[in-house]
Amino acid sequence: RFESIPMAPPDPILGVSEAFKADTNSAKLNLGVGAYRTEELQPYVLNVVKKAETLMLERGENKEYLPIEGLAAFNKVTAELLFGADNPVVQQGKVATIQGLSGTGSLRLAGAFIERYFPGAKVLLSSPSWGNHKNIFNDSRVPWSEYRYYDPKTVGLDFDGMISDIKDAPEGSFILLHGCAHNPTGIDPTPEQWEKIADVIQEKNHIPFFDVAYQGFASGSLDADASSVRLFTARGMELFVAQSYSKNLGLYAERIGALNVVSSSADAAARVKSQLKRLARPMYSNPPIHGARIVANVVGDPVLFNEWKEEMELMAGRIKNVRQKLFDSLSAKDKSGKDWSFILRQIGMFSFTGLNKAQSDNMTDKWHVYMTKDGRISLAGLSLAKCEYLADAIIDSFHN
Ligand code: LMR
Repeated sequence: RFESIPMAPPDPILGVSEAFKADTNSAKLNLGVGAYRTEELQPYVLNVVKKAETLMLERGENKEYLPIEGLAAFNKVTAELLFGADNPVVQQGKVATIQGLSGTGSLRLAGAFIERYFPGAKVLLSSPSWGNHKNIFNDSRVPWSEYRYYDPKTVGLDFDGMISDIKDAPEGSFILLHGCAHNPTGIDPTPEQWEKIADVIQEKNHIPFFDVAYQGFASGSLDADASSVRLFTARGMELFVAQSYSKNLGLYAERIGALNVVSSSADAAARVKSQLKRLARPMYSNPPIHGARIVANVVGDPVLFNEWKEEMELMAGRIKNVRQKLFDSLSAKDKSGKDWSFILRQIGMFSFTGLNKAQSDNMTDKWHVYMTKDGRISLAGLSLAKCEYLADAIIDSFHN
């Protein structure tokens, strides 16, 4: 019976890491998955994380099951980090926060909630978006379509297209927005554009659904990176926010994040939370404790919190440096007159190079540079020392 099961294709992002591992060429470079590396291209465990783990060992904490909604201290600090501790929605108990299996698990739980309580409602995704969004809503049996976002002509935001597609969506759709540092393009709306996006979402009674995977990582400021979510919240809108600590605390494999649902009353929030728990129980019972304790210890402690901010600035700063160096190298080496300044305008972990699939294949096959086939490169996996090599690879792939 299992003979009839077809082979699944490799994952477009995580499959890149598998292919990278199998390559024996010493020049190889993994710019596929969005994971921070040091200048020596080694994984980085934050010092604040090590300190939090030491504390946990000293306290001799146990491994009892968490409640279905996760660790209370985690849920509290995580909502406060996102919305701000003095935000009325937090103070008035209008936020239902449930610990999730990082961004993906939180999005998946939201998908299950939409499927159950808003049957037939559509999710609108940016074109392009993080590849896994489509899988998540497909598997949740939530219909989705796309709104225009990236304009290849300007290598910028197609703002008019975005607004008109959100306007045209059936009333009451869920509009998936990247809170900051859009993945894969690195192109974010301006504050004025966010206001206009909020206007049309309100007009059409849509429900904003934020994916926040890079808070603190885009600008280096936790508050600035949450400003889009806070702008919508300040308008009194009901909304979803999926959060991840994979990047900003480097807790990738701990699978730690949260789903926050803002309702118009504390009563509704309590009911929403009860239903989220009901959906989570048959999927995974309750979430893992280790990452939740790390976050609670770091975000909930003023000293560690400040140290975390410094380390985050360091990581964001290193990415900005390689971004600049890559731009400089490309501009110096490329004799075609191509304008590479779009690289400097993009923010966050990634650069969306504009390389097409064949050109991306050339990057990998000829230059051993591993990247996703949509032309995205993770600058978090690049070192200053490798910028010149990467520039040669990009120029060769573009012009051949
Ligand atoms: C990415 O886009 O590279 C990350 O979000 C990792 C992932 O799970 O795909």
